[in-house]
Amino acid sequence: MKTIIEPHRIKMVEPIRMTSRDERVGLIDAAHLNPFRLQARDVLIDLLTDSGTSAMSADAWGAMMRGDESYAGARSWTRFRDTVKDIFGFEHVIPTHQGRAAEHILFGVAAKPGSIVPNNTHFDTTRANIEFGGAEAVDLVCKEADDIGTRHPFKGNMDTAALEKLIAEKGDRIPLIMVTITNNSGGGQPVSMANIREVSRIAKNAGIPFYLDACRFAENAHFIKRREAGYEDASPIDIAREIFSYADGCTMSAKKDAFANIGGFLCTNDAEIAEQGRNILIMTEGFPTYGGLAGRDLEAIAVGLREILDEHYLDYRLLSTRYVVQHLSDTGVPVVLPAGGHAVYIDARSFLPHIEPLRYPGQALAVELFIEAGIRCCEIGTLMFGLDPHTGTEHPARQDLVRLAIPRRVYTQSHMDYVIEAVQLVWERREQIRGMRIVDAPQFLRHFTAKLAWQ
Ligand code: F0G
Repeated sequence: MKTIIEPHRIKMVEPIRMTSRDERVGLIDAAHLNPFRLQARDVLIDLLTDSGTSAMSADAWGAMMRGDESYAGARSWTRFRDTVKDIFGFEHVIPTHQGRAAEHILFGVAAKPGSIVPNNTHFDTTRANIEFGGAEAVDLVCKEADDIGTRHPFKGNMDTAALEKLIAEKGDRIPLIMVTITNNSGGGQPVSMANIREVSRIAKNAGIPFYLDACRFAENAHFIKRREAGYEDASPIDIAREIFSYADGCTMSAKKDAFANIGGFLCTNDAEIAEQGRNILIMTEGFPTYGGLAGRDLEAIAVGLREILDEHYLDYRLLSTRYVVQHLSDTGVPVVLPAGGHAVYIDARSFLPHIEPLRYPGQALAVELFIEAGIRCCEIGTLMFGLDPHTGTEHPARQDLVRLAIPRRVYTQSHMDYVIEAVQLVWERREQIRGMRIVDAPQFLRHFTAKLAWQ
């Protein structure tokens, strides 16, 4: 069968609200041209993030009812810990309220001013947690990632030659090496098993610990199954276990590949990092057997981590995203190719070549998609990454992308058809779209709250 169908049926629905174009123009003006400032009730299709927005299953909701809310040593903790250990395989598991809390603890313990942390591409919270402590976050993604239109199967790969060069020059300042699977800020592109293995080998040779940012590990595992020779017959869980076997630990946001609405964890094989991490955890998140979570959240994550590794779900997920990318690409819309797992990335710099990067073409496109069709999405470009927080200077980001992140199990294929049509309508009137300027913005993570105006 060629028709893509959701591998689940719908048991509970949430209405979404239609608005008129005139209404939307007023709403986005009042939000200072920043979709993060919109009220959810004014959004028709919310593609701002795939994080914490998933639909949970009947099983996960059921498990929540048995949440053990004991302060210490709850049954829900044991179930959570055992599931994490079974899939991820690390010795120490530290529960946190979400991924960035795990990052904050890891870098609070492992990095210091002057440290350098390489990654394929740091996500914005990872970068901010590193820079906030006075360390430097360096992106070393492979060269293929720069060419938005080439169909390299693993454009999330780390440039291992650049990594070796950095280690040779400044290895004594590198407390750990990180690889993000999939590479969210680089277009949601996966990393191959061969690349993970090679980074692990380089890290071991240099005596530097290797951590994974594991937010979308299941999608990455399934890309390996579908695209890397030798893994065709492996199950997603076995691929995931092999991935983690090469690392010394990971940070994880359960808001992505665990279907949970909140949650995360830090894993490590390093007893000292675990002990220091737990000390910070107790101060900032909670007791080590619940971290920043309720027992019911731990239960939902334990169920979600198993569900996400279902092959039929993962096939549907990757096919559904590819469907949107393919349709857009076929009509000439510049999108990152090949399709990633969790999002469609439009190349706003090519979409709006008349808007220079420092006039935020990505933000302009995101705002136009809201005006056109009530779709909310997010810029990943110069607004997000263009400000050096130490010098206060601004520069164009490596790319100006717009991300349409697809919440897991929330929207149907007909919603996806609507999205395709909306992007095509904006594409047809692209020459009339103007650039923007910032009116007011903070120093760190400015894209969340910045106020903008049309140029
Ligand atoms: N790492 C990656 C690769 C991420 O995509 C995110 C979050 C985090 C870490 C932080 O996790 O939100 O649980 O604290 N990404 C969301 C997104 C926000 O929209 O891509 P968190």
